[in-house]
Amino acid sequence: MSIIVREALQTDCQGIMDLIMGLAVYEKMEDKVKMKLETLQEDGFGNEKYFKCFVADRQENGASKLIGYALYYFTYSTWEGKCIYMEDFYVSPEYRGKGVGSRLMGSVCKIAVEKKCARVQFSVLGGNKPSIDFYKRRGAIDMTEVEDWHLFRLTGSALEKLAANSNTV
Ligand code: ACO
Repeated sequence: MSIIVREALQTDCQGIMDLIMGLAVYEKMEDKVKMKLETLQEDGFGNEKYFKCFVADRQENGASKLIGYALYYFTYSTWEGKCIYMEDFYVSPEYRGKGVGSRLMGSVCKIAVEKKCARVQFSVLGGNKPSIDFYKRRGAIDMTEVEDWHLFRLTGSALEKLAANSNTV
């Protein structure tokens, strides 16, 4: 058995969908997952690519199974320039503690260094202490703790109301 970390292919999307659900279940928010396979395929591998992804692929007796992923995209800081946002990071329970997560996150950080990004950012639920500790052990800073940043979201009717107010020509 070997576990390789590699860039995701379109054909990995069903495996990634299963892992997305695994992470949502871990976060006790599985009812919030609305993603469809076709949407993930189109958004990651269609003409306009909205995300990139590394997967951990367990290979055994010629069979392949995805057991972890780190999904990210590029953002931009007007203070510091190019950045990466790591949206999801997950390893299936039975494969944790073997360095797979470190390799996945390392792959995202390597892209950040290669592309000269100033930051890799991500959000973690306040109650997810094992992951908060994992990130802090690797030198990540909790920006809510340090500078009191709050994550805001516009969605649904609030979003549509604002969009209707647009004055773009
Ligand atoms: N489970 C978890 N961690 C263990 C275990 C175990 N059974 N046994 C030992 N550990 C220790 C390891 O020694 C290691 O310690 P270190 O930080 O001193 O190196 C650390 O915990 C785990 O390191 P890795 O093996 O490299 O990482 P892993 O493959 O366990 O993946 C991850 C880390 C992705 C956080 C995983 O634990 C996970 O999927 N957790 C649940 C989902 C989650 O919280 N994801 C992050 C949400 S935030 C976001 O998505 C941006």
